[in-house]
Amino acid sequence: MGLVADYRPMNITLCLTDNRPEPWMAGFRALWPEAQVTAWAPGAPQADFGVVWAPPQTFLDEQAAGLRALFNIGAGVDALLKRRLPSGVPVVRLDDAGMSVQMAEFVTHAVIRQFRELGVYQAEMAQGRWAYRKPLSRADFRVGVMGLGVLGERVAKSLQLFEFPVRGYSRSPRSVAGVDCFSGPVGGEGFNAFLQDLQVLICLLPLTAETEGILNRDSLSRLAPGGHLINVARGGHLVEEDLIPLLDSGRLGGATLDVFRTEPLPADHPFWRDPRLTLTPHTSARTLREESIAQIVGKMQALLRGQPIAGVVDPGRGY
Ligand code: NAP
Ligand code: GLV
Repeated sequence: MGLVADYRPMNITLCLTDNRPEPWMAGFRALWPEAQVTAWAPGAPQADFGVVWAPPQTFLDEQAAGLRALFNIGAGVDALLKRRLPSGVPVVRLDDAGMSVQMAEFVTHAVIRQFRELGVYQAEMAQGRWAYRKPLSRADFRVGVMGLGVLGERVAKSLQLFEFPVRGYSRSPRSVAGVDCFSGPVGGEGFNAFLQDLQVLICLLPLTAETEGILNRDSLSRLAPGGHLINVARGGHLVEEDLIPLLDSGRLGGATLDVFRTEPLPADHPFWRDPRLTLTPHTSARTLREESIAQIVGKMQALLRGQPIAGVVDPGRGY
């Protein structure tokens, strides 16, 4: 704490829609006792740092003038970027903070479930049937990761450990050892080549104007027949109406969906009742409070020392 002792106590204000602020406040106080930590309510004093999740516009309008930075307690900033943001105030995303290992275990589990046909065995054993299936060819089990950022790169590397042929797709050219990397605009040559004949497609893109609806009838029809979709990014990536017809026609075999256009998934949504879908409630990589607070406090103090920090969002790019 010595390096920041010369500064007046910083005011950290939390505005965490749907999250109880108390444990977060306790965490910030424990790590930075000199700071003043408050939960935002209309008319609250000016904050130096905002710590937010999908904050109301009033928070941003009231606090805009004096903010040094806004910290988002998630990796994805799509909800925050929908708001009118104070100009010139850096928006900082969570940069892993314990998420990439969770995402890697969730996704590798889902991929291996497909490769080892565990759903089929489970159904057969439930019928009292003891039967072997010819193992699938690993060399032909092509897995593609859309998005090679903090989470996607970790996932791609984890899948490599199981010796699947792994492809990756990003906006700008990337190089990840052992991963066949593609890049370029959505719908372009690199994009189409990336998708071609994939057995499993994993979406780990940020939700932006360019990536909204990227999982649709056209893109998903490029996978190998009977391919599997894993969407662990945002519900807005998938054109939900396109999915069931693709499953009905056999073009896709199934999907693992952790995220949805409307969350919680509405009670009458057809996805609930479809046995070809594996659904989870937006839980593939959770925000871990202690790790996140430690990262955010470290970055706040670095900013006060005038040091550069990782994870600053480019609002123009949308991530
Ligand atoms: P990140 O580090 O910002 O990486 C984003 C990746 O996507 C980069 O490789 C980027 O390309 C690529 N990309 C962005 N726009 C693209 C486009 N138009 N075309 C092709 N590639 C594009 O993000 P992250 O930390 O890995 O997180 C990814 C997303 O996962 C988050 O935005 C969030 O929505 C989601 N998420 C979900 C959960 C969950 O529990 N379900 C948890 C955490 C995060 P470049 O490399 O060229 O920049
Ligand atoms: C969760 O979805 C996140 O963006 O961190």
